[in-house]
Amino acid sequence: MSLDSFLAELDGLVADAGKAFASAADAAALEAARIEFLGAAKGRLKGVQKGLGAVSKEDKPAAGKRLNEVKAQLEADFEAAKVRLASAGPATKSGSQFDPTLPGKPLRVGRLHPLSQTIDELKDIMGRLGFTVADGPEIEDEWHNFEALNIPAEHPARDPLENFYLSVAGMASGQRKLAGSAAPSDTQPNREADASRSPLLLRSQTSTVQIRVMERQKPPVRITSLGRVYRPDAADATHYPMFHQIEGLLVDRHVTMADLKSVLRMFATSYLGKDVHVRFRPSFFPFTEPSVEADMQWNDRWIEFGGAGMVDPNVLSAVGYDPEAFSGFAFGLGIERLCMRRHGITDIREFYKNDVRFLEQF
Ligand code: FA5
Repeated sequence: MSLDSFLAELDGLVADAGKAFASAADAAALEAARIEFLGAAKGRLKGVQKGLGAVSKEDKPAAGKRLNEVKAQLEADFEAAKVRLASAGPATKSGSQFDPTLPGKPLRVGRLHPLSQTIDELKDIMGRLGFTVADGPEIEDEWHNFEALNIPAEHPARDPLENFYLSVAGMASGQRKLAGSAAPSDTQPNREADASRSPLLLRSQTSTVQIRVMERQKPPVRITSLGRVYRPDAADATHYPMFHQIEGLLVDRHVTMADLKSVLRMFATSYLGKDVHVRFRPSFFPFTEPSVEADMQWNDRWIEFGGAGMVDPNVLSAVGYDPEAFSGFAFGLGIERLCMRRHGITDIREFYKNDVRFLEQF
């Protein structure tokens, strides 16, 4: 074999091996290239080396020298490729490497439901107006949901079809018992016994918490309560069978209707902005006298957002307060409707669909 063709073979080997080592995408590809070119038994360098015997004696020193250079070159290329792969970090399954220029995967950050956010904000507003937060159970007895609120047994608000009673059988017998009971002020000493016999229902209003607070606290009282209430109302754009109310109750000496209207106006403008128009319409609730319905203006229409009034003397008596010495006001507003007005939500059902496209806007 001529020296030239031997050297040409070595040059070809350097070029091929250089390319193979440089383009190896992961450790397995590099090892395959090492075996192909540097393999002790069948490597291509070994193959070319075998041709050295056929080179003439006088050309052998030059051929041998070049062979050693090529071997050192291949080993250096292999080591360089090893370092390159190690510094690139672990290869991905497909063999591709980390590309810092690719856009990252967006992190999905959880957030509070819009109604939870509203509840937090309303608590803050009421706190600034001097009201502390009180809680009550969602499963109630008839004393707290009706009786103590001056809603007698025959009142249509107690109709089984208007409420979610927990046991229909228990309700029927319980209602018969309550129907035969005396007026609220007379039943007060026995109300524990009555309550334990009373059928249970999901509370239909947060006004129940008024009673629970006044039963355990002497006046003055200045509380707010926010939570779920339940009514078998058909769902439409402004009604849902489970919704939230915010209740306010203030009892003290010399409390008047003017106090109620100022607090409601301050509350509405704090949450909805100075330009919100609020109007009060005469209304009726068994537990307030006089009573009003509070409306706010929305898209040139008046929307009812709650009821309010001066606490009825019968209610004060039912919890053992002296109605001659104390007076108070109370209100109960729909939280969904407030939140809808604030954010321009036109259908209450959006709150309960669990559609992230809606929820992630808040
Ligand atoms: C009451 O529940 C009284 N407890 C309010 C009250 C408290 C009056 C204290 C006097 C003193 P009403 O049934 O009108 O009142 O309900 C109050 C508000 O709850 C309504 O104005 C409305 O905003 C909201 N609401 C009533 N039913 C639904 C429903 N099905 N879905 C969504 N919101 C409702």
